[in-house]
Amino acid sequence: MEKVINKLPSFNAYEIRSDFPIFSRKVNGKPLIYLDNAATSQKPRRVIDGLKSYYENNNSNIHRGVHTLSYESTVMYEDAHKKVAGFIGASDWKEIVFTRNATESLNLIAYSWGLHNLDKGDEVLISIMEHHSNIVPWQMLCQARGIVLKFIDVDEKGNLDLESFERLLTDKTRVVSIIHVSNVLGVVNPINYISKKTREQGAILIIDAAQSVPHINLNVKELDCDFLVASGHKMLGPTGIGFLYGKKALLESMEPFLFGGDMISTVTKEKSTWNELPWKYEAGTPNIAGGIGLGLAIDYLENIGLEQIEEHESELLDYTLNNLKQLPWLEIYTPLEGQRVGVVSFNVKGVHPHDVAGVMDEDGIAVRSGHHCTQPLMNRLNIEYALRASFYLYNTKEEIDQFLISLKRAYKIFKR
Ligand SMILES: Cc1ncc(COP(=O)(O)O)c(C=O)c1O
Repeated sequence: MEKVINKLPSFNAYEIRSDFPIFSRKVNGKPLIYLDNAATSQKPRRVIDGLKSYYENNNSNIHRGVHTLSYESTVMYEDAHKKVAGFIGASDWKEIVFTRNATESLNLIAYSWGLHNLDKGDEVLISIMEHHSNIVPWQMLCQARGIVLKFIDVDEKGNLDLESFERLLTDKTRVVSIIHVSNVLGVVNPINYISKKTREQGAILIIDAAQSVPHINLNVKELDCDFLVASGHKMLGPTGIGFLYGKKALLESMEPFLFGGDMISTVTKEKSTWNELPWKYEAGTPNIAGGIGLGLAIDYLENIGLEQIEEHESELLDYTLNNLKQLPWLEIYTPLEGQRVGVVSFNVKGVHPHDVAGVMDEDGIAVRSGHHCTQPLMNRLNIEYALRASFYLYNTKEEIDQFLISLKRAYKIFKR
């Protein structure tokens, strides 16, 4: 499906903000400055109202009735799959399976593909910058099947170490499962290069696009991946909905993930046969409203244009890094150059990030502090925790100025 992008004549973060009701609230008496977008994004009125309208006007179960409400819900839910397919450039909407989130999508692949296709001695290649959701399912498989899990390193600047990738990619590698954009470092990994090398070894390529789909214009055919996963809540959609893209032939050949209603074609006392794609992988009543809400979030993003969002974030990122690098009491983990999205991770030397985040909260600023579900990366960087500010389409330079003032205030309080 072709991606349709209707660009607005100009991008205006101030106008965009007015579409997000949450920005009218205050936190600790200050206007909310939300810089925790890598954890989850805020929701535009169009999505919030769309959910309300669905429950008020259309609510029904899908695929189960001949009555009007069931028909309407079914069409709306299927349309949402079509919107996701268009958004990521899939050939066929049946290649889109709705899940709860990126984590569930990765588990689906590990169970439905991995358990049935990998064996003792096979190798799975991931990277040290993966989110736990792209590490732990593979660890489970390794223990169950005697598979070897290998980690591509990062270089001293915080970019993926391609020499390490080439060294670790062998004729035993059956899967390369890689984060597209790091939720800590913000770097955009060179998927085309990785995909070319992975193909040469005959392995399959899985992309964790949880941090890229919301921020950069991507196309699964251009990336040449077998699977791609993402979460709706990081891209202006509701929580509890995410998706898995998989090449049709692969999805058709795999075993289901969860078993029960809706995922079957026939059931006898002895055995069952499976439903067509994508329902084979959507057992039970799905998150119908969530799926429809995700479709509305995509309408919103497409109306603005991913290129404009990417450009805006890049300006905010440069502005932030140019200011942060003047502060000698900071340790910055996000590379200062290269392709990145709006994510900055750093520490105030000698100060626990929770303390800094606490001061910022007093100023109405939401930043993340912790290990960001990337303990192996933290370990590699010789730290336990970091602070992270992550931007999206509604953030402004004025907010970054407030963030910098608040950061300096925190430093003054805690410096020794
Ligand atoms: C890169 C990456 N992958 C996967 C996930 C998991 O997303 P979810 O918790 O929505 O399943 C996250 C969440 O932060 C992430 O940043």
